[in-house]
Amino acid sequence: MKPCSIREVKARQIYDSRANPTIEVDITLENGVTGRGIVPSGASTGIFEALELRDGGKAYGGKGVSKALDNIRQVLAPQLIGMDVTDQRAIDEKLIALDGTPNKSALGANAILGCSMAACHAGANYYQMPLYRYLGGAQADTIPVPMVQIIGGGAHAAGAIDIQDFLVIPMKADTFAEGYSMVVEVYNAAKKVFQQAGKPLSIADEGGFWPTGFQTNEEGLRLLTQAIELAGYRPGEDMGIALDVASSEFYNKETGRYDLALENRSLEREEFVELLCHWVDQYPIISLEDGASELDWEGTRLLTQRLGKRIQLIGDDLFTTNIERIRKGVEMGAANAVLIKMNQIGSITETLEAIAYTQKHGYLPVISARSGETEDTTIVHLAIATNAGQLKVGSAARSERTVKWNETIRVEEQLGTSARYPGMKVFTTQGLSLK
Ligand code: PGA
Ligand code: ZN
Repeated sequence: MKPCSIREVKARQIYDSRANPTIEVDITLENGVTGRGIVPSGASTGIFEALELRDGGKAYGGKGVSKALDNIRQVLAPQLIGMDVTDQRAIDEKLIALDGTPNKSALGANAILGCSMAACHAGANYYQMPLYRYLGGAQADTIPVPMVQIIGGGAHAAGAIDIQDFLVIPMKADTFAEGYSMVVEVYNAAKKVFQQAGKPLSIADEGGFWPTGFQTNEEGLRLLTQAIELAGYRPGEDMGIALDVASSEFYNKETGRYDLALENRSLEREEFVELLCHWVDQYPIISLEDGASELDWEGTRLLTQRLGKRIQLIGDDLFTTNIERIRKGVEMGAANAVLIKMNQIGSITETLEAIAYTQKHGYLPVISARSGETEDTTIVHLAIATNAGQLKVGSAARSERTVKWNETIRVEEQLGTSARYPGMKVFTTQGLSLK
């Protein structure tokens, strides 16, 4: 046995930020070094994601993870023991082979990812390296631009409005710390704007404000623009808006229409694309995610024809961090950016491959948390390791969010003068005009 061989794999049930069970895995090496991974969980999940194995039944609303834990304890752990933890690819390939299905439905992507993440942390700890350095080597130097939710709707606010995330991206900042502090000012200004509008200060799943009593989806854009101004910033100059439309949630696959329940209207693909283009003209929107449904490639292609030279167009449910789906997007010219979520694909190696594929084909990777999160900070390191350039974590409130933003501040400080913060270059070097 080598000192870096895996001695023990321990899996337990803990809980995420939405009070649902999730999986935590601890890996201990022969030399006593440990590593821990905690698995996140989405609410507006794409239908092409790897399978998150839940127990079903009464307990926890069907969201128990005892089957997935059993799979770790009985199937995965015995095979991992003795493996060299520093060979992440071999570990992930073993996990994938033990499952044997294309979408990890035999053992569960949550079971597999927990082990994959824990191994990755143990490997970094074995070398006494920060995770970003372990994964990214000497080239890892890019601190991501934050994309931060201010208002949370859609599946993260019990469907109070149709659109899921109203977010901001700092446009005039030289460092992450500076950019993020601007975002914090906007978050606090939004609190005042909500109060002035007579809205209760409820908090949605990712820490953004809950859109109570909205008459239209556009009201979110108006309030957010007001918040940017109240914070003392120029919309579209100092601070940009990003939307995660998450339109798969309200796309009617029978009719092929986009049903905006809040506004009691149903739009055809072309009409919905037109509405989004209108918003991009009216508001300082510089990034648009899942503007068309995961089933509506043509809608995304149309949006890309209209907006693809101006702003970032991200596929989340559309691509599900899956190279096969990203390839299709690249080939047909759909979107120009890919949301990257580890648990959509289910292992560290496949996530790294999806990021590399995205970058190689001139699309922008945006590393993302899930709406159900924990104190795990792996994605921060993943973003820096791959020089991805962008990080999306939810809002500026609640500890499962701040743990990621604060970690980014720390790494930026740690890298000192070797840290590179791209700011708007992340978009402009890609040829986007942001107008
Ligand atoms: P989810 O939301 O984690 O609920 O899928 C995040 C997103 O849609 O980007
Ligand atoms: Zn999304």
